[in-house]
Amino acid sequence: MTEKTYTVEEVRAGAPASAPAELVEWVTKIANLTTPKDIQWADGSKEEWDRLSEEMVKAGTLIRLNPEKRPNSFLARSLPSDVARVESRTFICSEKEEDAGPTNHWADPKEMKETLIGEKGVFRGAMRGRTMYVVPFSMGPLGGPISQLGIELTDSPYVVLNMRIMTRMGEGALKLIAAGKPWVPAVHSVGAPLADGEKDVAWPCNDEKYITHFPETNEIWSFGSGYGGNALLGKKCFALRIASTMGRRDMWMAEHMLILRLTDEKTGRQYHVTAAFPSACGKTNLAMLQPTIKGYKVETVGDDIAWMRPGKDGRLRAINPEAGFFGVAPGTSYDTNPMAMETMKANTIFTNVALTDDGDVWWEGIDGEQPEHLIDWQGNDFTKADTAAGKKAAHPNSRFTTPASQCPIICPDWEAPEGVAIDAILFGGRRATNVPLVAEQYTPAHGVFIGANVSSEVTAAALDVKAGALRHDPFAMLPFCGYNMADYWGHWLEMQKALGDKFPKVYQVNWFRKNADGKFLWPGYGENSRVLDWIVRRSAGEVEAVEGLTGLYPKREDFNLEGSGVSDADWETMYTLDPEAWEAEAADTEKYFSQFGDKLPAAVREELENLKKRIADAK
Ligand code: OXD
Ligand code: MN
Repeated sequence: MTEKTYTVEEVRAGAPASAPAELVEWVTKIANLTTPKDIQWADGSKEEWDRLSEEMVKAGTLIRLNPEKRPNSFLARSLPSDVARVESRTFICSEKEEDAGPTNHWADPKEMKETLIGEKGVFRGAMRGRTMYVVPFSMGPLGGPISQLGIELTDSPYVVLNMRIMTRMGEGALKLIAAGKPWVPAVHSVGAPLADGEKDVAWPCNDEKYITHFPETNEIWSFGSGYGGNALLGKKCFALRIASTMGRRDMWMAEHMLILRLTDEKTGRQYHVTAAFPSACGKTNLAMLQPTIKGYKVETVGDDIAWMRPGKDGRLRAINPEAGFFGVAPGTSYDTNPMAMETMKANTIFTNVALTDDGDVWWEGIDGEQPEHLIDWQGNDFTKADTAAGKKAAHPNSRFTTPASQCPIICPDWEAPEGVAIDAILFGGRRATNVPLVAEQYTPAHGVFIGANVSSEVTAAALDVKAGALRHDPFAMLPFCGYNMADYWGHWLEMQKALGDKFPKVYQVNWFRKNADGKFLWPGYGENSRVLDWIVRRSAGEVEAVEGLTGLYPKREDFNLEGSGVSDADWETMYTLDPEAWEAEAADTEKYFSQFGDKLPAAVREELENLKKRIADAK
């Protein structure tokens, strides 16, 4: 088969009039590298969505759900080998290895470019027989001062549809690019070229995967996977890895954080909170929290990523760079997150959930009885007997991609270009032991130490990390920081210095502590409003805190537990910190920190010494 080649004129002829010359040239270059059968420019229109989704239904990649139950919604099933992010195949290709740091996989940029686009590079001919889509997108509201632009070239129509939900995609973004705004180039291929006449499969991908980032040139190249964060390049690759390096250069912050607005209904006062938790630890649930205590209202700004910049008033302002939620389905129900359930009632793409006989979706933990018969995420019959045998109908990392605008409690300001002013920052993880419900920072540097010291029991969000084990996940950014993690802590200290007392206070939280019988001590979900209540009362100076091993703790009498079902004994257990266990934690932290050598900021090292002193005093 002769490979298709393109001239600039030919590509220009198929491009929207607004496409600038530089972009057309780049598209031509990538087309001649990857040799797709044709090129389509995505405009983000409803017509395009309808056409692509129809084509994908015909091709067997999407199943249209029952329109009476779930209008304009689809189910996709991936291959079992392509169900999550692959951290071991995710590379930071900075010029110097030390700039990627010990927690990232580093690859020499020249060598990686050779692997990707050299003479035998994996991208050569990678799109053969497929369409290459040109997807212009904005992360953040179009034209906003904190927003950024990108172009993803992809041979996956599934990615195009997901990008339409997750970003401001199409014509508007292209116009800004045409007006001369900078943009991030991102190239994606599922890595499954088709020979002449070869029939496609429902989920094309490649066993060899490369998710690569070039921070010095802001480039992203992703090969081999069609799934989530590996393929929707605006999300983890751009909005976290590349954006974190941009933020470091330009004094802003890209964080793995939800953003919510909490309104005190008595006074009308609004508070904005960001919160970082490792993947699949309940960020979406907290972002859409339904307070169980009276007098508060929560509205959602974002559920996964926050970009934060100092505003004109000197306060830290945050936007959600995304336009949709890519949430974990299992465990989501009207009981645990009614607002997410309402959001995904229509116009939603589900991936790797189960299908009911009446054409709707199902997963473990959804409301109601398990139906007698289902089709599981791999397309097989599934009954209660399978559940009894320990099998799952939905993959544990199955997802919904759904428009944020459909969330019934989306904050009226969620698209405010200048963002919302942040009052408090939370860090949490899944910790069955040791970590109390809530602790406030002693000092800003202690706040950074709290973030640096996050560890969590691993979930199913990554393919190649053993679920259940405890791992350090500093700032919930371990898989997402585009540069040396210790320099990132240094950047936080710089931002704190620049903003002075306007920088929000940091709180450590843990909803997952268990008692000796393995029972959760804290009910979580809507009850987490009690923690937010204490935090805002602290910030209003209404309540005092007591000095503890890991921070400033609430006084039992100040904390609203009325009607929570949490007994005084449970509270006592949550706030019983065993100095011996903490001695072991501190030793482990010291070992973890030692890998950063001289890069570890002195202020963070000092906070470890302060913790050790507090432990020694408590013994
Ligand atoms: C996500 C993740 O998809 O963190 O948000 O894995
Ligand atoms: Mn995430």
